[in-house]
Amino acid sequence: MEKIAIIGVGYVGLVTGTCLAELGNHVTCVDLDKTKIDGLNQGKAPIYEPNLDAHIQKNLAEKRLSFSTDLGKALIAHDIVIVCVGTPMDADGSADMSDYFNVLTAIADFIKDTRPVSRKIIVNKSTVPVETGKKAELFLLENGVYLSEFSIVSNPEFLREGSAVYDFFHPDRIIIGGNDADSVKRVQSIYRSLYRSRNPIMLTSIEAAELTKYAANAFLATKISFVNEIANLCDALNIDVAQVTKGIGADNRIGRYFLHPGPGYGGACFPKDTQALAFIGKENGVDLKIVNAAIAINNHQVTIVVNKLRDLLGDLSGKHIGLLGLAFKPETDDIRNAPALALVDHLLREGCSICAYDPVAIPNTQAELGDRIGYAKDAYHAANDANALVLMTEWNQFRLLDLEKLANAVREKNFVDARNVYEVRAMHDNGFTYRGIGRHSSDGDKTVHLEDIELSYGGLSEF
Ligand SMILES: NC(=O)c1ccc[n+]([C@@H]2O[C@H](COP(=O)([O-])OP(=O)(O)OC[C@H]3O[C@@H](n4cnc5c(N)ncnc54)[C@H](O)[C@@H]3O)[C@@H](O)[C@H]2O)c1
Repeated sequence: MEKIAIIGVGYVGLVTGTCLAELGNHVTCVDLDKTKIDGLNQGKAPIYEPNLDAHIQKNLAEKRLSFSTDLGKALIAHDIVIVCVGTPMDADGSADMSDYFNVLTAIADFIKDTRPVSRKIIVNKSTVPVETGKKAELFLLENGVYLSEFSIVSNPEFLREGSAVYDFFHPDRIIIGGNDADSVKRVQSIYRSLYRSRNPIMLTSIEAAELTKYAANAFLATKISFVNEIANLCDALNIDVAQVTKGIGADNRIGRYFLHPGPGYGGACFPKDTQALAFIGKENGVDLKIVNAAIAINNHQVTIVVNKLRDLLGDLSGKHIGLLGLAFKPETDDIRNAPALALVDHLLREGCSICAYDPVAIPNTQAELGDRIGYAKDAYHAANDANALVLMTEWNQFRLLDLEKLANAVREKNFVDARNVYEVRAMHDNGFTYRGIGRHSSDGDKTVHLEDIELSYGGLSEF
């Protein structure tokens, strides 16, 4: 059991802190945001993340977890300090490290004002540029902290919003980078219960750990951009992309994950991390062509959705669009860089009006967009009087909508399915003109769809 301070109680800090407490550690989570901390002390999570609330309440009650705005108090009592503050994209594409260095400044001030203090192990869980570990060490030394008073460890985070609690308890790997064997061992020990059964811990240099995080996200983003490009080609060639992705995904060297075409990747990580990696490449004289191509493809992908709407409706000015899904992915309320919001931006500029529904992301969207769009109480309400419906987030709630009811609600039966959730046949049967991504499907087109093949082969889905 270790005593751990988490600095930054966002999607990563809150899940990590809560789950580390669940593993038996004593954890204090610190944030500047008093409202957030007050709510958390009453067991209320400020974010939507499946299964998180119950763990928070249980560990609060068992007194292994607490929340505070007082960094100093947390630092006195805890030697492992996990930094989880945001590292958003700066104007030039690099990571904005101001929150991170503000935390280091506060730690340096605390150590200088309070010495002698026990040695602090500062763990970088925030996604930070390569060589941040080295820079952090130099920064603390320049700010009057002695080398004997701290060490830096890199422990990047790989959880996925929407399944973050599950991911914490079932990690594919835990990467720990450090130069000081004792510090690395102590960080390893906080995950002890996770690696009794399996051994997913990988020890690396600090720089390798830092780069691994960016490289992993860039690889996944590239996979998405690659499949989006193939989907766009499928549209041009009247091929159903699902048949192609099934075929390529069956190859173990490729794998079947991250082969779903859509409106582009979004969220708090892929867009900023690909940009930051490209920036790191540029700074070091390496033009990361694949990463840059993935970014360019992704920036363009939402216009594919706009073009599909234009194809159905002609001039978009004055058209009313029903929007299904605002979060950047299902099971989260996170709308940072959500493709749906990029679409809203395009459509508003074209003179559309929009009514949107999302199971949990409406409050966050309202805070950002206010009354620039309308908000619906459910999917059918969003469909009211729409010239077209667009499905942007594949929430389970949108998978089995009553198509007849939708058809009765809309003004014109146009459906753009940016996540390829629906069967083309079912849409056509309900009178919708349907467009997916990479499954060209104007009425009378020549595309043979996966569901047709499965039907004609007696429901076999593997072929
Ligand atoms: N969100 C994800 O899915 C995810 C996954 C893996 C890694 N990451 C990385 O983890 C880091 C955190 O991401 P997030 O999504 O949790 O961010 P977030 O914006 O949700 O949370 C950051 C929190 O830090 C707090 N904060 C800022 N400055 C502070 C300070 N000086 N002292 C105390 N608290 C402070 C903010 O108030 C906020 O609550 C980022 O580097 C991100 O790239 C995120």
